[in-house]
Amino acid sequence: MIKSKLSLVLMLLLVALSACDKKESATAAAGATAPVASGKMVDFVTTQDSKPLVIDAALFDTPAAKEFMTTGKNPYIGNAEAIAKGKKVFQLYSCTQCHGPEAKGQVGPNLTGPDYHYPKDGTNKGMFETVWHGTNGGMGAKGIGLMDPTDPKNGITPDELLKVISWIRSMSKVTGNE
Ligand code: HEC
Repeated sequence: MIKSKLSLVLMLLLVALSACDKKESATAAAGATAPVASGKMVDFVTTQDSKPLVIDAALFDTPAAKEFMTTGKNPYIGNAEAIAKGKKVFQLYSCTQCHGPEAKGQVGPNLTGPDYHYPKDGTNKGMFETVWHGTNGGMGAKGIGLMDPTDPKNGITPDELLKVISWIRSMSKVTGNE
């Protein structure tokens, strides 16, 4: 009699435990899908070897940068204010020295396309990756924290780079957002 009571208690305990388990895995699944709803980062890859390119999400600190981070589209395309700022940023980071004041090429190539050395630069995500992490053929990384290993605060921010790209696209037939 005592024995069967004990096994009943044990059985109830097991049922209770498995119910608990189910609850937990349900919340874990909800937790795993939550970031998708709130904006998961697109898969950035390096231009050098197409390996995953990890960028700190905290650096995408403006509404436009956040939108780009989750969609890969540049919200500044066609935005006159962003385009004007982009031209200034292009000078600030010495892009002018190699690509010329109108980005039509000097030591470095013409950036207005439509024929790019790296075809992915016809998209805004691709051009972002190329400038952020550099190329194998003569251009170093310009992204903040990468441009100057001795100064983690030095380099272009995602928001600035999106403005630079909007300026480059303003002189081009390519919008990069298709
Ligand atoms: C020291 C010179 C130099 C500076 C400064 C420089 N670049 Fe470059 N850039 C190059 C060279 C050289 C290439 C070609 C590299 C290659 O073919 O791998 C290049 C390539 C590129 C490309 C790829 C073009 C294509 O045809 O696919 C983009 C986009 C670009 N640069 C943007 C920029 C921007 C934006 C800046 C400023 C933040 C900048 N570059 C600063 C020298 C420079």
